[in-house]
Amino acid sequence: MSYEFILTRTEGRVGIVQLNRPKALNALNKGLMSELVEALTAFDADNEIGCMLITGNERAFAAGADIKEMATATPVTMLASSFLNYWAQIGQLGKPLIAAISGFALGGGCELAMACDMIVASESAKFGQPEINLGIIPGAGGTQRMTLAVGKALAMEMILNGRYLSAEEAAQFGLVNRVVPVETYFEDALSLAAEVAERAPVALRMAKEAINAVFEMPLQAGLNHERRLFNILFSTEDQKEGMDAFINKRKASWKGH
Ligand code: CAA
Repeated sequence: MSYEFILTRTEGRVGIVQLNRPKALNALNKGLMSELVEALTAFDADNEIGCMLITGNERAFAAGADIKEMATATPVTMLASSFLNYWAQIGQLGKPLIAAISGFALGGGCELAMACDMIVASESAKFGQPEINLGIIPGAGGTQRMTLAVGKALAMEMILNGRYLSAEEAAQFGLVNRVVPVETYFEDALSLAAEVAERAPVALRMAKEAINAVFEMPLQAGLNHERRLFNILFSTEDQKEGMDAFINKRKASWKGH
């Protein structure tokens, strides 16, 4: 499948999408977001893929939603377009999704990173929600996910006053998993994705679902949900295989059912 705004490929069991509008710092227009959702949805449904990886380039992961495309929008055109739903669709994917980020991750680009499950950042990564400078606020999850990630005080400073976080700060405040050299950030993220991709597929989906339930449910409902998912996994062949492999001191061979 060939796309206009993204590049896709696979490495073993990892499905990779590279955002590919380098001249516009990977600004997220409707065409790019639609292609991104299409490609990730296809990887999500592909049994040969265990984990997905999104990246940009060294200078920019994505500098936000495409301001030139949005400039003449009205509330009615924004409502009618499914633009902001693309971020929601990415947040709803079942398989693990990792972001490999270098350079700018701003506005909708930062929101895209936060819709992923893990973030590997290069030392040059910069995270920000600078929408206030355009007379708007984040619209694809930034006020919610940033606040959940870094806490109210810092989220207020970032969203009300356009403060960026360096990669080091992002790690310190729990927004990213690790900070690595610019030269190796993609390979480092790919190694992480490749490791995750080899794990039991159904358990991976359920683990992701259970963790995300933290952000949606009160504690007791989340604990009950976790317990149901835990119990369901005892109906999979992979649970029998994983425990048999442990007992017999051999490597498990996952079937994904
Ligand atoms: N939309 C459209 N085009 C963008 C863009 C964006 N978000 N960000 C950068 N570009 C374009 C620039 O217009 C420029 O194009 P031209 O060469 O045709 O002029 C090109 O990318 C390179 O950008 P700069 O010349 O500005 O590069 P710089 O190094 O001087 O600055 C930057 C880099 C600080 C990231 C700056 O480009 C910038 O501030 N970009 C906008 C960041 C922003 O406000 N993002 C939020 C968007 S709104 C949003 O995302 C809403 C939401 O929640 C969904």
